[in-house]
Amino acid sequence: MTRRAIYPGSFDPMTMGHLDIIERSAKLFDEVIVAVLVNLDKQPMFTVAERVEMIRQVARWPNVRVGTFAGLLIDYATEQHAQVIVRGIRAISDYEYELQMALMNRRLEPGVETVFLMAAEAYSYLSSRLIKEVFKLGGSITGLVPEWVEQRMRETVKG
Ligand code: PNS
Repeated sequence: MTRRAIYPGSFDPMTMGHLDIIERSAKLFDEVIVAVLVNLDKQPMFTVAERVEMIRQVARWPNVRVGTFAGLLIDYATEQHAQVIVRGIRAISDYEYELQMALMNRRLEPGVETVFLMAAEAYSYLSSRLIKEVFKLGGSITGLVPEWVEQRMRETVKG
């Protein structure tokens, strides 16, 4: 049986923390689908298409592919025949929200298991929100996002 995992998120933008989780998931599962949430409410830095392209450019493992989803994650996981949802946990502060989501998803579909990977210590303080804030205020984000992503971020400023 193919072990297929979904790694969902906003990825606006993708950070080195995300990339690390993708790399590790690709070793644990036969296939990993990085699933970008289409969230019409938010004002993102990058469009969904740009985020998909960004992940494709950077997460180049043969068993990793990129998808998008709207609506319930658990419906997408079922549709894709994934047995596992992967989430990264950075600090204890992530735990409560992640636990709620995992339990709700399990209630909705007990056949899909949520697996938590601990973020690498080097990236445990990283978040897309913080990266955007530091970048917009002129701070260096080198090494915190893949080089390709940093370049795209610079282009958004140039317009
Ligand atoms: O990277 P993020 O923003 O922390 O990812 C959150 C995400 C996309 C995993 C979560 O918001 C989600 O699953 N949204 C889809 C809607 C849904 O299924 N909601 C019920 C969750 S129990």
